[in-house]
Amino acid sequence: MSNHDQNFFNLFMVVIGALVGIAVILIITARIVAGDTQLAWVQGDPAYAAAVDARIAPVGRVSIAGEEPAEAAGETADAAPAADAPAETAKVVDGEQVYNTACMACHASGAAGAPKTGDAGAWKARIAQGADTLHKHAIEGYQGAAGFMPPKGGQTQLSDAEVIAAVDFMAAKSR
Ligand code: HEC
Repeated sequence: MSNHDQNFFNLFMVVIGALVGIAVILIITARIVAGDTQLAWVQGDPAYAAAVDARIAPVGRVSIAGEEPAEAAGETADAAPAADAPAETAKVVDGEQVYNTACMACHASGAAGAPKTGDAGAWKARIAQGADTLHKHAIEGYQGAAGFMPPKGGQTQLSDAEVIAAVDFMAAKSR
């Protein structure tokens, strides 16, 4: 090899070495950033933790005659979050959010004969039926003159409370 080639080779190895170093730095940076992602935020959210608590709460509890019920005695540490959880999840029900995901498809445009949100004329007689009837029709479904309102808007995974919140949101917007 000539001297010229040797010089070129040395420079080439320095450049390759520098690139490998940069790659290693990028990999380390990426790992640090990945530790602080969406997943970490979601799992750290108290509302999420409360929802998980509610899902994994024991279905029942054995009370033995002659003993204070565990909850009344306040002796079970794990009973407290289970008891609190339903209230916690009830609080996070957001009628607007439920409406946006489950009801807007029909009620924003008036598709399939649905009364449009904000159309006071279309809602006047419906609201006059009373909130209980509106809630019932939204939860159980309802065939009216204008069309068919599917039970819970077709989103049967919604709780009754979520549907009620969405109805109240829609009705309030349509007065
Ligand atoms: C597939 C379309 C569709 C979706 C999705 C939908 N609706 Fe409806 N909804 C209708 C139609 C059509 C009517 C009118 C029925 C009639 O009166 O003939 C209606 C009527 C209603 C009424 C009035 C009932 C009454 O007694 O007058 C309420 C309240 C209501 N919907 C709530 C909801 C809520 C809450 C959601 C979301 C959870 C939802 N709807 C999703 C189609 C839909």
